[in-house]
Amino acid sequence: MTTDTHRVIRPSILYFGTPVVLLTTENDDGSANLAPVSSAWALGQHVVLGLGTESQTARNLAARPDLVINVASPELWEKVERLAPLTGAHPVPESKRAVYRYEPDKFAAAGLTPAGSDLVGPPRVAECALQLEARARALTPGGAGLFLSVECEVLRVHADERIVVPGTQHIDPSRWSPLIYNFRHYHGLAPEVGHGFRSQTARVAAGAV
Ligand SMILES: Cc1cc2nc3c(=O)[nH]c(=O)nc-3n(C[C@H](O)[C@H](O)[C@H](O)COP(=O)(O)O)c2cc1C
Repeated sequence: MTTDTHRVIRPSILYFGTPVVLLTTENDDGSANLAPVSSAWALGQHVVLGLGTESQTARNLAARPDLVINVASPELWEKVERLAPLTGAHPVPESKRAVYRYEPDKFAAAGLTPAGSDLVGPPRVAECALQLEARARALTPGGAGLFLSVECEVLRVHADERIVVPGTQHIDPSRWSPLIYNFRHYHGLAPEVGHGFRSQTARVAAGAV
């Protein structure tokens, strides 16, 4: 229904602004795959990912559930975009051939650095300030075969010291910004407008904790 303020449209994509994560998974030959994904959300110590069925990442997770969810920040956008036309799938699936090309060494292609993980096989991305070692616990088909919802349990969190509130276990929201994928454009976070009533960092700042 059209009103004075809104009209009905059919956008080709619905990427309304979600953080970009770089997923590292293990290929059949033991090498690492690296893929940008923006369908990611967290609840408790779990992260749920939306992965295209034809991605090498989805195939890897179906066979080997270890992964690292490396959360990108705004200064990494050009490296993320270098990964955008690449796939670790060989041969490149028919549905991806027009847009994607095979790349076995995505770290080198993007100019990113692998760093060893503690609990899982795939490496962390050294340039990402927030790295979540995780294990896929459930892969659920959706979208009539288009994608998989992948439920991951986070096993260990690595945070760059510069984004941690000193002496606490908290990420400092004033020092951390995710890279946001906003209708295929990259953004950082705008300045804070407020905080939630359960914010522990706000209580630390107020001297309450
Ligand atoms: C910023 C960005 C966000 C993306 N988000 C997703 C996503 O949420 N899910 C997905 O399956 N693919 C997403 N893609 C596309 C994958 O990165 C692409 O399919 C890639 O080929 C996957 O690599 P792989 O086949 O080696 O796993 C995104 C790409 C970019 C650049």
